[in-house]
Amino acid sequence: MTEHFQITLNGKLVETDIDSRALLIEVVRDCGAKGAHIGCLTGDCGACSLEVDGRLAKSCLVLAVSAAGREVVTIEGSRDAIARELQSAFVACNGFQCGYCTSGMIMVAIALLRANPSPTEAEIRNAISGNLCRCTGYEDIVRAIASAADALRGRTFERNT
Ligand code: FES
Ligand code: FES
Repeated sequence: MTEHFQITLNGKLVETDIDSRALLIEVVRDCGAKGAHIGCLTGDCGACSLEVDGRLAKSCLVLAVSAAGREVVTIEGSRDAIARELQSAFVACNGFQCGYCTSGMIMVAIALLRANPSPTEAEIRNAISGNLCRCTGYEDIVRAIASAADALRGRTFERNT
């Protein structure tokens, strides 16, 4: 069954017709937000991580219709100071190789640093425990997140500025 569907995606109102069984990850990618990746489609890899109304979600586990009317943010729309610092830190620390997991890792790290600006290594590892990376061995990802947290500490965090 087809349904008319509306969300705010990365700050822009999007209206389209979707299959009522479509997953949120499929719809956001169809709407151009290709930074959210499809990995497993079973909730195991975290490549599809994004925000729905400010809360982290694995979008392969969310029916698109359940996000109707909500605000969805993918890596493309994450432009605040935390997101920018994390993106720089992932580059500086070699926190990616193929990059397939990276947008999901950064979405998780954004949520972590918003909630906890001074995470321990164990807290960082716990935060990314639902996200799989087959390339890096995780060390450089953890280092990138810790480095971004160090750089951000003491700054005023403003969202989407
Ligand atoms: S594609 Fe959603 S968790 Fe893997
Ligand atoms: S950098 Fe390749 S899967 Fe993480």
